[in-house]
Amino acid sequence: MHTISTFEEYQKTYQDSIERPEQFWGDVASHFQWKKTWDSVLEWNFEEPHITWFKGGKLNITENMLDRHLESRGNKLAIIWEPNDPKEKFVRLTYKELYERVCQYANVLKSLGVKKGDRVCIYMPMIPDLAVAVMACARIGAVHSVVFAGFSSHALADRINDAQAKVVITSDGLNRGAKQIPVKRVVDEALLSCESVEKVLVSNRLGWIPAMKKGRDHWLEDELKLVSKECPAEPMDAEDLLFILYTSGSTGKPKGVVHTCGGYMVYTAYTFQNVFQCKESDIFWCSADIGWVTGHSYIIYGPLLNGATTLMFEGVPTYPDPGRFWQVIDKYGVNQFYTAPTAIRALMAHSIDHVLSYSLDSLKVLGTVGEPINEEAWHWYHLHVGKGRCPIVDTWWQTETGGVMISGLGNVSPMKPAHAGYPLPGVQPVLVDQEGKEITENNTEGYLAIKFPWPSILRTTYGDHNRCKLTYFSAYKNLYFTGDGAKRDDNGMYRIIGRVDDVINVSGHRFGTAEIENAINQNKKVVESAVVGYPHSIKGQGIHAYVITKPGIEINDLLREEIIETVVHQIGKIAKPERIQFVEGLPKTRSGKIMRRILRKVAEGDTRSLGDTSTLLDPLVVDDIIKGAESLVVVR
Ligand code: WT7
Repeated sequence: MHTISTFEEYQKTYQDSIERPEQFWGDVASHFQWKKTWDSVLEWNFEEPHITWFKGGKLNITENMLDRHLESRGNKLAIIWEPNDPKEKFVRLTYKELYERVCQYANVLKSLGVKKGDRVCIYMPMIPDLAVAVMACARIGAVHSVVFAGFSSHALADRINDAQAKVVITSDGLNRGAKQIPVKRVVDEALLSCESVEKVLVSNRLGWIPAMKKGRDHWLEDELKLVSKECPAEPMDAEDLLFILYTSGSTGKPKGVVHTCGGYMVYTAYTFQNVFQCKESDIFWCSADIGWVTGHSYIIYGPLLNGATTLMFEGVPTYPDPGRFWQVIDKYGVNQFYTAPTAIRALMAHSIDHVLSYSLDSLKVLGTVGEPINEEAWHWYHLHVGKGRCPIVDTWWQTETGGVMISGLGNVSPMKPAHAGYPLPGVQPVLVDQEGKEITENNTEGYLAIKFPWPSILRTTYGDHNRCKLTYFSAYKNLYFTGDGAKRDDNGMYRIIGRVDDVINVSGHRFGTAEIENAINQNKKVVESAVVGYPHSIKGQGIHAYVITKPGIEINDLLREEIIETVVHQIGKIAKPERIQFVEGLPKTRSGKIMRRILRKVAEGDTRSLGDTSTLLDPLVVDDIIKGAESLVVVR
């Protein structure tokens, strides 16, 4: 596959890609191994929506990630795994070894009754078995649905049930810094309310002896002994499902974003290569968890499709100390490092000595993803980590886009702090006003939408196509709406401002306000709640919850803790509200709609410009809310 190497070449390629998109993507796709070539590159309409890429083509993505490399890269490292504890031995898997493991694992899935099209839920720590399990599903045409292992049993059960998963893959426990978490127990709890699950496959990570339900639960190690190391790759249609990944939106229930085999393969491979400019002997590290789309596309699929060496890290940036990222970079000579602004900000809060103790000489390209990066964090990353010599690619994209959409390309593109930059080839972003009218001039701001399909655009939301249509394709006619606001500067560079819908981005994790409100309302002492995001120095946004309790309930710290517990139980620790403010009433319009704008302003501490409050049913509640916010105790 061709890699763009100068900015002029980018400009020319970009122009080509939008003038003749089918030819452009057809050319890229021809670099892969297809069992049958496609009948049409692209068919689409954004009305239904109905989008197909490489229709009629047959392939298996794992053949392109593994088999294809065996001859030239069989002994090259595919995955380097760094454990949570730096004293524990790391794992290195060559392409040949990975290929065998994936085939064997795929045979285990088959022996448990998994067939093409079945859904397999993966709830696992960041260990090699997780990556292997993902590819094993793809090998046999099963649809994987990875659920981040920080979600609660309740959230896990919802996702298993929505996908009607037949098998769940997990481990005895997991390491997170100094803590160990019993994940198998979380699965057991979830499965009390999941009827579709027939089998559970368990990896041994901690040497624990969890309860194993007879007939349902199986140790991976035992099953591996029974199967062969060869497993033919299932021929898949380009538009067959590859995976489902749940993400939050503005309604209460997370939705299953669906990606398909052909387009996702072509786009993640292309973007990986061009954004990170990875050379044959480079070592690439993306620090995300495979539970999020970043891990899917840029730990597993993108790197392995390109025959690169990808590093997978089990731990956290601050364990055993806040120098861990930098220690790992020096240990393996990492060349491209891809992380989240929230991690950078968290590390900035510690002594700079943690960075200065390491050479970081191997680094060539730095990347960020997940949320807007503030200029201070950008400069710190550029100066202290990149030593002023590494470009930063600020990659804007979404679970729904499958791969990077707007970003610099290694050292090929000009960069500007806090700006994602220019669209990738094939990507046609537009800014629109409230009415959906395209704003064509530069030096402007608007809602970010995309006017033409790219190969890894989501195809549907699992089990509910109408929801996909309403969420992404109905706000503006013939446009995919991102939910983000953005600016475009004089040179046409994009700067993402953040979500303009009811989505809060906490440490790069997406939550719908309604989702958190629903969770809080499960507490029996609560009548109603309203949740907003506010600027948080490390997490990007924090969660501020306004809560109305039932009459006669005593308000104290214990009640706050109880409500937080409710959220942890319903969603997981990652969704903990930082602030809980008890209120007598919420600012509602006569039609009963909560005016979140006011609640947001109060949470931001900006109460001088609340705007028009005349449409409120009871404008006086606002004064009480402001007073309450001023005396708020911040809970951690
Ligand atoms: C939302 C998507 C894409 C993988 C991680 C998050 C925000 C993402 C950036 C960036 C500013 C960004 C947007 C987007 N976002 N990358 N470089 N600059 N904002 O995936 O959970 O689907 O969230 O994350 O608001 O809509 P996600």
